[in-house]
Amino acid sequence: MIGLVSDSINTLRGNTSVPGDKSISHRALMIGGISVGTTEICELLLSDDILRTAKALEAMGVNIDRQSNRIWRVNGVGVGGLHEPDNILDMGNSGTGARLLMGLIATHPIKVHLTGDDSLRKRPMGRVAAPLTQMGSKVIARDSDKMPLTVIGSRMALPIEYSLPVPSAQIKSAVLLAGLNVPGETRVIETRPSRDHTELMLKYFGANVSVTEESIDRRVIRLVGQPELEGKKITIPGDPSSAAFLIVAALITPNSEITISGICVNPLRIGLINTLMEMGARIEIKNSHFEAGEPVANIVVSSSKLKGIDIPAERAPSMIDEYPILAIAAATATGKTKMRGLAELRVKESDRFSAIVEGLGACGISVKIDGNDLTVTGAPGLIRGGTTIKSRMDHRIAMSFLILGLASMNPIAIDDSSHISTSFPTFVSLINELGAKIRKTG
Ligand code: S3P
Repeated sequence: MIGLVSDSINTLRGNTSVPGDKSISHRALMIGGISVGTTEICELLLSDDILRTAKALEAMGVNIDRQSNRIWRVNGVGVGGLHEPDNILDMGNSGTGARLLMGLIATHPIKVHLTGDDSLRKRPMGRVAAPLTQMGSKVIARDSDKMPLTVIGSRMALPIEYSLPVPSAQIKSAVLLAGLNVPGETRVIETRPSRDHTELMLKYFGANVSVTEESIDRRVIRLVGQPELEGKKITIPGDPSSAAFLIVAALITPNSEITISGICVNPLRIGLINTLMEMGARIEIKNSHFEAGEPVANIVVSSSKLKGIDIPAERAPSMIDEYPILAIAAATATGKTKMRGLAELRVKESDRFSAIVEGLGACGISVKIDGNDLTVTGAPGLIRGGTTIKSRMDHRIAMSFLILGLASMNPIAIDDSSHISTSFPTFVSLINELGAKIRKTG
């Protein structure tokens, strides 16, 4: 375990960019993998999670040619063309990789065993197994919900209409990817929209996908099965969930201004930016344009005096991965920030609900729990710090508390930095280039 420690700083400045979006990287490999012809992916996120997905696809017959760190070529096997792997697929820490692949596998006549690390093996998989079972495949899981599990795909799978029981892009995507290899129309109904990268990318690769907003709480996604997907060229935009750490770092550090270029600003991913702006953040979104169906822009952030606000539960899906870093911003804001409807935080890479409560408490910040709601009382300039936070095998908990160290009276350490590489392997070098002082402990 390599611990890291973060000291307070006086300024953060410069121009930078962050690695490719994790959600879009997984999808580019998978959808490229079942297209016909070559998909050329530029700026793929080279992180542990994505490498697991690439390896899993290779084990099922997809040929992936790493031209360089910046360009990868995926030679797809066509819809329905995956082979049975001759070994267990280990998805490491990656819930997205595991759940989306379960969908992809479910409508191939193959049997696949999947497992993951200590964190992933604790996470619920029944939420994906349920719709796949309705389609005709079989999932045999430990305790009927956990990995290791076996997906027995079906040759005769049927399309379904599935209403999501929780707002989850992973469940939605698993059903859509399964629906690719069945005849007829697969429908997914959402009451709260979750990230739509799968819909956008399937359209870009030539699938017949339509999205209808029938009312404020009913969004219907329709996919016609067995399309001929065609390999494409795709550039992965910067990950807004990685940029989030730099954005909050610049906001809470005095005399700061940073520009982060080429970030995905899909409206279903920028709940954090909208929330921070409501809290008084000086953030500008510049040079917006579209790449492969996704909006991309530069983000300019300056230090700001933040004030606490009340954040509605309906916003959670558009910032679900950003609550740990939002809680850090809230700790530096004047007044109380109430974050509502955080039940899903309990089933992420760690129980982020308790990680936030415990971590902020250890740094001297008052946090109140009310069911699935959290209220953080900010203490601008008075955050005690001087403690070591347990990372809990969770990259976002590790990075969030290192950012809090930038604005606390005493350094903040994390016990284990190894999981940062699942999503943002260059985090430490990149933020130190802007002026932070994050270093190894001991
Ligand atoms: C993701 C969806 C989200 C998010 C995860 C990535 C995706 O999970 O937390 O980091 O790429 O589809 P849920 O859809 O389960 O909320």
